[in-house]
Amino acid sequence: MNFTPSEIKRFEELKTPFYYYQLPLLEETLQLLTSEAKKYNYHVHYALKANANNNILAKINAYSLGADCVSGNEILKAKECNFSSDRIVFAGVGKSDEEINIALDNNIFCLNCESIPEMEVINELAKKKNKIASIALRINPNVNAKTHHYITTGLEENKFGINLWELEDVLKSLEQLTNIKLIGLHFHIGSQITDLSVFKGLCLRVNEIQEWFYSHHIIVEHINVGGGLGIDYENPEINKIPDFKTFFKLFNDVLQLRPNQQLHFELGRAVVAQCGNLITKVLYVKKGIKTNFAIVDAGMTELIRPALYQATHKISNITSQSEQTERYDVVGPICESSDCFAKALDLPETKRGDLIAIHSAGAYGEVMASAYNLRTIVKAYYLEV
Ligand code: LLP
Repeated sequence: MNFTPSEIKRFEELKTPFYYYQLPLLEETLQLLTSEAKKYNYHVHYALKANANNNILAKINAYSLGADCVSGNEILKAKECNFSSDRIVFAGVGKSDEEINIALDNNIFCLNCESIPEMEVINELAKKKNKIASIALRINPNVNAKTHHYITTGLEENKFGINLWELEDVLKSLEQLTNIKLIGLHFHIGSQITDLSVFKGLCLRVNEIQEWFYSHHIIVEHINVGGGLGIDYENPEINKIPDFKTFFKLFNDVLQLRPNQQLHFELGRAVVAQCGNLITKVLYVKKGIKTNFAIVDAGMTELIRPALYQATHKISNITSQSEQTERYDVVGPICESSDCFAKALDLPETKRGDLIAIHSAGAYGEVMASAYNLRTIVKAYYLEV
């Protein structure tokens, strides 16, 4: 993820901090993603929660991906950016009536339901509109995603989805709820999954669950296995694009689809993470007891992942000319000790005014920015194709 001299010259003229997206890399990623998915006729819905920047969404929509939304506003944003309704899915453990109505009014493809009470509310709201809502059951498959516990969603202890032992009751309810139609089964077990054997485990569990439904005389048209494919935060320049080929092949090899059953994915991070960088400037270098602090002008308000999930992003000083390295804690200006991007990191000798790039920040970066400390929400700039 090196920057050209002209990119760095441009950075020097811009007010920091800012997000910088390399759209050619996004294009390359989308090309590979769509060509690999096409081999098996798989449907990919982009998870807007990873990055809902209009320019990024426009590029993604140009590749005819669907949209995976988790709020009414994400549905409205997807529509605004011309994602077609029949490719919008809506998940979320706490959908409000207003949000369900947005989904119904926009005739989206499918609502992924997470509980019987939610199914009842959707049924009631659909009835009022004289509509039949298409739903998928979000099932909690109790598969360990082996990722950070804050982004693990498919274990029984997590709040997400319908547990396996509730399925009998769900089927009984469905018989009564005439304004909803079951069209699919949905799963999502977590995010930043780099051990692909986890997805194999998911496929095997889905096979078992499908058998259970089959024994109850139900074959749904759609299986949605969610997102979660991880990226390489350590070596972003070597692994710029996730291994979509192996990922999709694994599902093709292990997941047993019934004839005419369609397979759907909801990828977020894998699509957008590597094309985005947070560019920040060193404000001060301060000596600590054991370390130097490089205090930069971006903080957890611009990129919360290190503070929230102990996430590590590759960090480089992109303007230092020094041959000598020093060890730094790279920290932001926010009044919280968790506002730290890296501890004991070796960087070329760093001084006030140097530009620092925090890489792989395209997913769950800009979109999670906050105005805490009354900070100004940062701008984004682009390397155009
Ligand atoms: N589908 C559902 C139902 C989800 O909850 C998520 C992510 C995705 C798809 C997309 O997952 P992805 O392909 O991006 O892994 N803020 C955290 C990640 C939270 C993920 C939430 N759900 C982070 O910065 O690591």
